[in-house]
Amino acid sequence: RLECNGMISLENAGGDLKDGHHHYEGAVVILDAGAQYGKVIDRRVRELFVQSEIFPLETPAFAIKEQGFRAIIISGGPNSVYAEDAPWFDPAIFTIGKPVLGICYGMQQICFESLLIFYSVCESYYNLCITFPNFVSVMIPHVRFSNHRIGACAFQSILSGGHTVWICGMTGDVNLDYLGKMVSVGCLHLINAAHSFYNGTTTLPISDEDRTPRKRISKTLNMTTSPEEKRKIIGDTFVKIANEVIGEMNLKPEEVFLAQGTLRPDLIESASLVASGKAELIKTHHNDTELIRKLREEGKVIEPLKDFHKDEVRILGRELGLPEELVSRHPFPGPGLAIRVICAEEPYICKDFPETNNILKIVADFSASVKKPHTLLQRVKACSTEEDQEKLMQITSLHSLNAFLLPIKTVGVQGDCRSYSYVCGISSKDEPDWESLIFLARLIPRMCHNVNRFVYIFGPPVKEPPTDVTPTFLTTGVLSTLRQADFEAHNILRESGYAGKISQMPVILTPLHFDRDPLQKQPSCQRSVVIRTFITSDFMTGIPATPGNEIPVEVVLKMVTEIKKIPGISRIMYDLTSKPPGTTEWE
Ligand SMILES: *[C@@H]1O[C@H](CO)[C@@H](O)[C@H](O)[C@H]1NC(C)=O
Ligand SMILES: *[C@@H]1O[C@H](CO)[C@@H](O)[C@H](O)[C@H]1NC(C)=O
Ligand SMILES: *[C@@H]1O[C@H](CO)[C@@H](O)[C@H](O)[C@H]1NC(C)=O
Repeated sequence: RLECNGMISLENAGGDLKDGHHHYEGAVVILDAGAQYGKVIDRRVRELFVQSEIFPLETPAFAIKEQGFRAIIISGGPNSVYAEDAPWFDPAIFTIGKPVLGICYGMQQICFESLLIFYSVCESYYNLCITFPNFVSVMIPHVRFSNHRIGACAFQSILSGGHTVWICGMTGDVNLDYLGKMVSVGCLHLINAAHSFYNGTTTLPISDEDRTPRKRISKTLNMTTSPEEKRKIIGDTFVKIANEVIGEMNLKPEEVFLAQGTLRPDLIESASLVASGKAELIKTHHNDTELIRKLREEGKVIEPLKDFHKDEVRILGRELGLPEELVSRHPFPGPGLAIRVICAEEPYICKDFPETNNILKIVADFSASVKKPHTLLQRVKACSTEEDQEKLMQITSLHSLNAFLLPIKTVGVQGDCRSYSYVCGISSKDEPDWESLIFLARLIPRMCHNVNRFVYIFGPPVKEPPTDVTPTFLTTGVLSTLRQADFEAHNILRESGYAGKISQMPVILTPLHFDRDPLQKQPSCQRSVVIRTFITSDFMTGIPATPGNEIPVEVVLKMVTEIKKIPGISRIMYDLTSKPPGTTEWE
């Protein structure tokens, strides 16, 4: 609960602003220290119908004042204030007569920075209470001041827990109504550019370290495995084709505008300059490549939804009187399809692979493992609470489980940073006990930081976990397999009547071939499908649908049966990871 102490001076608000400068009259500015939480804060402020904008942390105080902002929030970030290169804000923000709220890193910075500010920290049962006279009083439960990471998590739980947040002196005046005037224009001219996409390329830096303008040409999309490169190729190819079409139709380039359905999180997630200067790069959105940025600067991109989140767009659709079927439809990914195929030429196996596998073995068979001394057992105990261990004992003495790493990597968010690492797979001898599996899905990424995702593998126990991959690229056959699996899964979901309960259900194709006969040395040639159900109210944090709870077990099993019939499919898996640590999409 963020409370105003009533002593905030607003005398200068809306004062001597020059024309054309106060674009943000009455809005809140979020100075982003590079946190994922910046956008959660942004979202919460907007939910109160208060306009907000994310600006880089170092934005000068005079600029904030000139733009007409009414209050300032300094967000959390992955840094420690003690770090030498810790990013910093302009201390003059305290002198421009605007209320300032610091959160996590932002709060630490305020304390660290200003001797003028009296603060008290009461650390009892991890409750943190900070008071800034003349500023804002913040009470955050379960926070250890010295541990920024815990602070961030606690703040996140406050934000996602639906607690009321009051922001001083602010009134809600941003509304969805005005967009009701929006007119939708039908599609005039359809282009089938599949081959141009398969054959598309982009220019890339010579290497990750190379900061010179030298560039190299990438491989074609259908030979590229890196998700970032796939996105960039798709974005560039789109613009290239658009330009060709503009030429063919004899349109004047300066009269052409690009309309697209970019949403607010798309811009924030790709650390776009539009939205933020600092956010750790989560991923480059296909809508936000360099070329699109250029068009945007020229004012040639029309993105009427760019200030809204996905669920707000749904509200808008209903206001506009669009049929519910359209509004709650789970969109079939366009360019996003490319990142639902985990492309790989080689398994992802680093030197931490065997050790992590041993830890997973101990965890999955905890009740037996505790009887034998093992150095890794101490590790497992050290990074879990006694309560966790008791629960683990219970689960593993009832169920025969088998957990291991899959040799692929997927994207996640851990702390404030992007992670790109292993998936843990689990199979069981008997019927899956979903509640226990959900517990393990939370526990394992907390224990093993190199694991950011957890899947249940349907079918009999996996005897020989794969340590190689089926070479997989964005080729016609691979994409058609994924389209088929996606079609089956969504049909079943729609028919079940549960589509509205699940916010999104990406279906992912992985290059994993299980159940090969090791004696016959059968090569890896099949692939496995993942069903990723996701329930969220804001699309920034969320949970998987637990079978038997948010989605009936029969519905899930029907999907498994139907997808299994598709030729070339090895196993079906179910993603049980929350966000964080796993993002909604796998790449
Ligand atoms: C990639 O796409 C191009 C254009 O469709 C095609 O000619 C080529 O054979 C494809 N390569 C592979 C490896 O599929
Ligand atoms: C793919 O691109 C290359 C080089 O840009 C071109 O020579 C070739 O004709 C293209 N192939 C197809 C099938 O479009
Ligand atoms: C931009 O993103 C929206 C939403 O993800 C999508 O519908 C649209 O096709 C994208 N446009 C381009 C050019 O990729």
